[in-house]
Amino acid sequence: MLILGIESSCDETGLALYDSEAGLLSHALHSQVAMHQAYGGVVPELASRDHIRRVVPLARAVLARAGRELKDLDAVAFTEGPGLAGALLVGAAFAKSLAFALDVPALGIHHLEGHLLSPLLSKHRPAFPFVALLVSGGHTQLMRVTEVGQYELLGETLDDAAGEAFDKTAKLLGLDYPGGPAVSALAETGHPGRFKLPRPMLNSGDLEFSFSGLKTAVAMLVRKQPADASTRADIACAFQEAIVEVLVTKCVAALQRTNLGRLVVAGGVGANRQLRAGLDEASRREGFEVFYPELELCTDNGAMIAFAAALRWKSGLPPADLVFSVRPRWDLAEV
Ligand code: KG4
Ligand code: ZN
Repeated sequence: MLILGIESSCDETGLALYDSEAGLLSHALHSQVAMHQAYGGVVPELASRDHIRRVVPLARAVLARAGRELKDLDAVAFTEGPGLAGALLVGAAFAKSLAFALDVPALGIHHLEGHLLSPLLSKHRPAFPFVALLVSGGHTQLMRVTEVGQYELLGETLDDAAGEAFDKTAKLLGLDYPGGPAVSALAETGHPGRFKLPRPMLNSGDLEFSFSGLKTAVAMLVRKQPADASTRADIACAFQEAIVEVLVTKCVAALQRTNLGRLVVAGGVGANRQLRAGLDEASRREGFEVFYPELELCTDNGAMIAFAAALRWKSGLPPADLVFSVRPRWDLAEV
């Protein structure tokens, strides 16, 4: 079965072709980072318009790279939610129109389901069941994943997501959007131990998170300290240490609570080197296995949508109707 996957929930237009026998055939991405940078964050209206410009050429590109044609498609999958309404509508409208024209099913996929199944695209792939840490710009969640389509929320952030904390810290440190990679790069040049920031809810005894207090602590530190480059780097380093310690500790707690031995990490913050190092170290210490998507499939992409659709179709997901509806807010536990 050959599936075209389309991701357009935020600031990346991602398309991919996945074949249920041959695997991922091709994927292509257009990032809107340069366009939004001037505004310091994603401008939803500009995002929607840019998805419109990119989606057709990218669809042509992934078909050409794989040596396939539109008539070879067996289904068209798209991100149905959560995300920016206008941006989601571009992918939904394109996917459903194409599916209608080709007389194949259109499959609406939950963006986070795409992320959490993406490590299954790697050579080193986890077996079910596992615990998933979803760390993106809008979400920080721990889920128990029993099988495709069975997701139980174990805990989540009560306020800011981890990615959001990275992005807000970046702004406080005078770094460009998107903040995660910039803070991470700066932190690597900093000195660990000069500053100590709070570890919110580290010992709360549950699997919930809270990161808005950490951002406030960074804001106060930035105000108090001199604005030289090495101080900024040391603050970035202290911030990253705090966030990584909280994420790693809660992952270990989730594995203990569920009695599972496999952890999957997905979403943009999963690309963070320090987080990966911390989880790798904990996995050796505690004796669990940890799985990541390929680095290029950590942030938003079309491959995870095509792949999730292939797995969901096999397990009986009904085709979407042809009404252009999306779900800007959508709990993963509801899929
Ligand atoms: O999953 P994603 O690409 O989009 C959403 O679904 O939100 O995640 C984007 C988030 C942003 O907050 C970005 O700053 C963060 O992931 N991010 C990182 C890194 N790369 C992306 N955060 C920390 N370290 C990174 N290397
Ligand atoms: Zn995402």
